[in-house]
Amino acid sequence: MESEQSSAASRTRVTMKEYAIQSDNAHCEILWSDNVRTTHDLATLEHFYRRWNYQLNMDDRKRWTDLSEDDVRRSVDMSISFDALIMDQSGAGMTRGLAALYYYGILLITETPVDDDGAGIAAIGAALGGGNIKLPSNSILSTYQAGKKDLVLTTGTDGPMRTLYGSVWATSSGAQPQGTSVADSAYGSDGLPLHTDFTYQTDPPGLQIFTMVQPALEGGESVFGDGFAVAEALRSQNPDAFDILSKTIRTYHSKDELTGWNLRASGPIIKVDRGRIVSIRHNDLDRLPDLPPDGTKDSQEIDAFYDKLHDAHLAWNSLLAQDKYRLVMKLRPGDTMVVANQRCFHGRKSFSSSTSHPRIVMGCYVSQDELSSRFRMEGFNV
Ligand SMILES: [Fe+2]
Repeated sequence: MESEQSSAASRTRVTMKEYAIQSDNAHCEILWSDNVRTTHDLATLEHFYRRWNYQLNMDDRKRWTDLSEDDVRRSVDMSISFDALIMDQSGAGMTRGLAALYYYGILLITETPVDDDGAGIAAIGAALGGGNIKLPSNSILSTYQAGKKDLVLTTGTDGPMRTLYGSVWATSSGAQPQGTSVADSAYGSDGLPLHTDFTYQTDPPGLQIFTMVQPALEGGESVFGDGFAVAEALRSQNPDAFDILSKTIRTYHSKDELTGWNLRASGPIIKVDRGRIVSIRHNDLDRLPDLPPDGTKDSQEIDAFYDKLHDAHLAWNSLLAQDKYRLVMKLRPGDTMVVANQRCFHGRKSFSSSTSHPRIVMGCYVSQDELSSRFRMEGFNV
């Protein structure tokens, strides 16, 4: 660390000679080369440091393409067993899991229990979000490790995010808690194009957690994609399309009269902050018709707006259709895929099943703020 002091006559570079963290663990005393001592709040110093790193564009996340199911299953960076993630009380498993989600935006968890009414899934949500505290009465994770099977704790500070689909959801209507919404297209058997979830929520969840309970009789493979990789490809191949999709605000909605939800939110497909791609919001099935910018009255301008937006969107979707951006996984019972929902896409191929053998997927969400908090606790610059 160094600073500069200027005067009318000269400009002298002052460097840090030594520093000491004070006993309150919240402040730092610095001795400078001109023997001046200063005291600083650690949170402020960390804030400056993160901002400085950000400006140097030190984005060390790994964009992925051409990834196969075998690659993921064999990777110690992208896959972990349920017990290694949840039952290792040293926290090493959680550190591994969070590193996968920071660097790649996906994590495969094998051998998830599928016969405990979602308790194991809630424990995964707790392991990757919330405060990660060790107080058993407040922690879903601690209570799970102690053998209890709670999905939600009334005084808890970790665990699944509550949404219109409940805390732990299931795509089989028989397994879905009564009163929760089944309005989403996930409850059918058609293929689903790559998308992110909750585009109709102001701050979409940070993690989407899927556990395969019972695969379809035929088809139903899960598909994933790295939105940051696709967005970077668009930026280099078609800068105009990138510019349009990162600046045009689209609106998304979800309305379910039966359960009384009417959600709507807006944002660009590609969100950029000081040149860096920071989040993706994309679901063509939930998107409302685009409107020209306020005040545009000239019909030629309006036509040009729609033409350019249409072409940009086509370029985006044609990238999403390329095999190199599509990771296809045939999930087995007990496989859980965790997806960083503001970065990576998910979708599925169409499937056939029977009433006696439905395709059953269960899961839950973790909020982006909770995920970002855990990333920061692990030392990642978010
Ligand atoms: Fe989805």
